[in-house]
Amino acid sequence: MSANALYNDLSGYYDLMCVDIDYQAQSHCIRRLHQIFGNGGNTHLDLACGTGPHVRHFIDYGFQSCGLDINQPMLDIAAERCPEAEFIRQDMSSFAVAKPLDLITCFLYSIHYNGGLDKLQQCISHVHQALNPGGVFCFNVVAKDKINNALFVKHSTKHADDLFSFRSSWFYSGTGDMQSLKLSIEKSNASETQIWHDEHPMVAFCFADLIALLQPYFEVHMFEHDYDKIMPWDQQSGNAIVACVKI
Ligand SMILES: C[S@@+](CC[C@H](N)C(=O)[O-])C[C@H]1O[C@@H](n2cnc3c(N)ncnc32)[C@H](O)[C@@H]1O
Repeated sequence: MSANALYNDLSGYYDLMCVDIDYQAQSHCIRRLHQIFGNGGNTHLDLACGTGPHVRHFIDYGFQSCGLDINQPMLDIAAERCPEAEFIRQDMSSFAVAKPLDLITCFLYSIHYNGGLDKLQQCISHVHQALNPGGVFCFNVVAKDKINNALFVKHSTKHADDLFSFRSSWFYSGTGDMQSLKLSIEKSNASETQIWHDEHPMVAFCFADLIALLQPYFEVHMFEHDYDKIMPWDQQSGNAIVACVKI
């Protein structure tokens, strides 16, 4: 099994893993930030769109939305969910779009999938190029200096005759610019139990480093990681929502 099975061989289980995620609240919050900071336009690209749940919400809000992801099995599911949308298979650190956009999003910490600070810098530069004047880039992040390796999230759900248990956690060694996302998936039924372990390398940064990378391109606004209330980041929390306005 590859280290990245969830987005390939196991992509059919991805939405089960995410059943507890409030995609509507996330999409609504970012739509509000776009209303506050944006240029009034309605073209949208979701980076690392996965199976397309946010693209679905943005289309339903009246956006012309499209999605980008590096793994075709995820895009195939997204295309079924959003037949109106275009989905492109590209790496977010080096993507190009046919026409500039008004809003670019990247949800569920997926910006950390840029494989190092140099790739993250390239991604930021490509986002800047892909935005219209006054366009907005929104994403969420975790600060490497606030990661607690002992914490994890676990949940179970039934699907047909199978019981699934999903577990995810961050791991940061304490030094360097890489962290990992550890995932395990357990599927059991009356006759067997299967377990898969994924470990995804991701870029690690503290928020000061991130802001320094963004500021040459964007006016940067940081918010508490709460999709129900828009509140300024308290300078302490290890998770944040970032809204960047193209300058
Ligand atoms: C945690 S999932 C998030 C999917 C979706 N945004 C959501 O909120 O459910 C991360 C996604 O990032 C994609 N991905 C990983 N590396 C990428 C890259 N370099 N460029 C574009 N997409 C990438 C994966 O294929 C996967 O679909």
